[in-house]
Amino acid sequence: MNQEQREPWRRTYGGYHNAIRPLEDAELTHTGRGTPCGEYLRRFWQPVALVSQVKDVPLKIRIMGEDLVLFRDRSKRLGLLHAHCAHRGTSLEYGIPLARGLRCCYHGWAWDIDGTCLETPGEPPHSRLRETVFQGAYPAREYCGLVFAYMGPPDQEPDFPRYDSLEFPADNEYHAYSLAFPCNWLQSHENGADPVHASFLHTISSGVQFTPAFGELAVCQYTETPLGMISSATRRIGDNLWIRGSDVIAPNSAQFGSSFVDGHDIHYAVCSWVTRWVVPVDDDSNITIGVRLFNSLIDPERKGKPDEIGLHKVDFAGQTPARPYHERQREPGDFEAQVGQGGVARHAAENLGTTDKGVLMTRRFLRAGIRAVQEGKPFKRPTLNRHGVCPTYNHQIVHCYPKRNDRDDADVLTLFGRRVAEMIVAKDDMHPVERQRAVEREIRAEF
Ligand code: FES
Ligand SMILES: [Fe+2]
Repeated sequence: MNQEQREPWRRTYGGYHNAIRPLEDAELTHTGRGTPCGEYLRRFWQPVALVSQVKDVPLKIRIMGEDLVLFRDRSKRLGLLHAHCAHRGTSLEYGIPLARGLRCCYHGWAWDIDGTCLETPGEPPHSRLRETVFQGAYPAREYCGLVFAYMGPPDQEPDFPRYDSLEFPADNEYHAYSLAFPCNWLQSHENGADPVHASFLHTISSGVQFTPAFGELAVCQYTETPLGMISSATRRIGDNLWIRGSDVIAPNSAQFGSSFVDGHDIHYAVCSWVTRWVVPVDDDSNITIGVRLFNSLIDPERKGKPDEIGLHKVDFAGQTPARPYHERQREPGDFEAQVGQGGVARHAAENLGTTDKGVLMTRRFLRAGIRAVQEGKPFKRPTLNRHGVCPTYNHQIVHCYPKRNDRDDADVLTLFGRRVAEMIVAKDDMHPVERQRAVEREIRAEF
């Protein structure tokens, strides 16, 4: 096709025709109450703050466009209330924690953690007003240093996401972190379904941000799981095969292997190094919030730095705007790549290639979940199994399998990545400790 036959925006010097921004993909990116995606996300427990952020005064937060206050009353119970007092709307961030509930500063009305009105002190003693008013409230729970909230319809509350990877292996230690990204939640989330960027952004473009081994281009594969998909990057490092099998969990969670791995030390880790959720603050910003996990399976040399993990910080490169701009321009990381896509990335302006398969798959299963909620049909959600945990699928495997003259090595990488993902999915009803052993046994037997 010659240039004149193409659409005007697909020709040289086509800036004039390219300057019109297409509309946002509202179905996937808008998350306010009543929007399709907002309703979908509200069917899951979401981490909304670090436990360490909840001090002796209420914490004002904004989640999916709702202004909220998170507080601990003097009996140590967590409460999550709509910020504006149901009396005349002043913000409960100025409220006073009580032995039971929170007192509004303006006229002293007191609210329990479930929204019950406990007192209306200025009203006459016989007044029954307090029996008729409620403050908007959501259930909140602590887990792994995070505060989780369920903001959906009360009669549809799901199992709490007690991922097996947060409970196992036995020496697992967690450090909670929360990072602010001034961009739509989806572009931060789908970064996790794009293993190709680890080679370019994190190694070739910006210099080595993780380890040089990430610069080796990977064979990428995407395997559906009961929760979403595994996004596998399989590489050959000398005699070893290394899989970084990332677990992309619908709608907004994901788990990853270590950034310190270099493909040299043999190990078989069916567990997580980082488990995170991308939670919308509003449609133009999100918090990427979760835990960095330390355990001997996935990081035997314990290269993590607990002091660098917490509010607005994490111990791997490129996740915050803390570095000077001139440095971030020369060595951009995930923060720059995601925020650089604009407040809300416009899908209609993209030109996707084979490297975007995981992103497309993520959008596809999100759309399926969103529509299932709208139609009242079942959708994928983490559920507790007979061992009392939600099985998940993250893995980091380094296995010795030298190149062979009788086999095409690209085929070996493809087969290895696919087979290991299949093994891990097939064994998800096993106890996590037993599953770990069984996967290792099966890999050694088959490769
Ligand atoms: S506005 Fe809260 S008690 Fe009046
Ligand atoms: Fe990244």
